[in-house]
Amino acid sequence: MSVSLLAKKKRKGEKISVVTCYDWSFARILNTTNVDALLVGDSAAMVMQGHSETAKMTLSAMTFFVESVARGAPDKFIIADVPFGWAHRDGSAFIGAISDLIHAGAQAIKVEGVGLQNENIARAIDAGIPVAGHLGLTPQHVNQLGGYRLQGKTDAKAELIRDQVVQLQNLGCFAVVLECVTSETARIVQEISDRIVTIGIGAGDTTDGQVMVLQDLLGMTLGRTPRFVRKFSDMAELSGGAVNDFVSAVQSGSYPSEEESYRQ
Ligand code: KIV
Repeated sequence: MSVSLLAKKKRKGEKISVVTCYDWSFARILNTTNVDALLVGDSAAMVMQGHSETAKMTLSAMTFFVESVARGAPDKFIIADVPFGWAHRDGSAFIGAISDLIHAGAQAIKVEGVGLQNENIARAIDAGIPVAGHLGLTPQHVNQLGGYRLQGKTDAKAELIRDQVVQLQNLGCFAVVLECVTSETARIVQEISDRIVTIGIGAGDTTDGQVMVLQDLLGMTLGRTPRFVRKFSDMAELSGGAVNDFVSAVQSGSYPSEEESYRQ
C-alpha cells in the first residue's frame, strides 16, 4: 500500500480499512490480513500504557512502538502519530522528531488539528513525508473540548470542520481522520474532499474508509466503549478463559503431558 494506492482506492469507491497497532506480535498477525494500513496511534498511551489520555505519549515511547510494529509488519503501510506538543515545536525540532518516526519504520505521520501546526505540516510534506490530519474529536485536545464528546453538532460547527479539511487538503495532506462527528458533518466534508482520503471513526458511513482501535474491535477493552465500537471478537473472554483453563490444567496435573515433556 502507498499514498497513491490509497488515493486510487478512493477514486474507485473502494472502502479503505485501517487499524491501530502498537506491538510486534499483533503486527505479525496484521501483516497477514487484508487491512490497508496500520496506525501506530498515540492511543497507545491509554491502550498499552494505561494512561488516562493520549497527551501522555512521548516521542521516545512512540518511536519504540513504531519500531516494534515495523519489524512485525514489513508489508503494511504504517502511519505514526506525532505525539502531543511536537507539532507546535519549531521547524527543525519538528523535522527531527518526525525523522525519528520515519527512521523507526513509519511511512507517514498523523498530526492532530489545524492552526499553528500548519507550517510544520507543510514542512513535512516538503521533506517528502506524507501527512494525515485528524479533525473532529482530537484526543490531544480533550481537556479543551471538555471530554470525549461528539463534534460538529450544529451546521456552523460542521462548516468549521469542513473548512479545516479544506485547509489540510490545500496543504497537501494525503488523508484526514474524522473522529466522532455527526454523519451530516462527515457528509459535507466528503463533498469537498476530492484530493484527500477521509477515514472515519465514529463518523458514519460516508467517509472513504474506517479506522478502529485494534483492542476495541477484538473485544479486549474492558468496560464501556463508545457507540461506534463494534466487537468483532471477544478476546477478553477468550483470553481470560484460556488462562483459567491453563490454571485448571496445572492444578489438576493434566499439564504438562508426556508429549509436552522432554526425555533424555
Ligand atoms: O491514536 C489513535 O489511535 C487514533 C485513532 C483513534 C484514529 O488517532
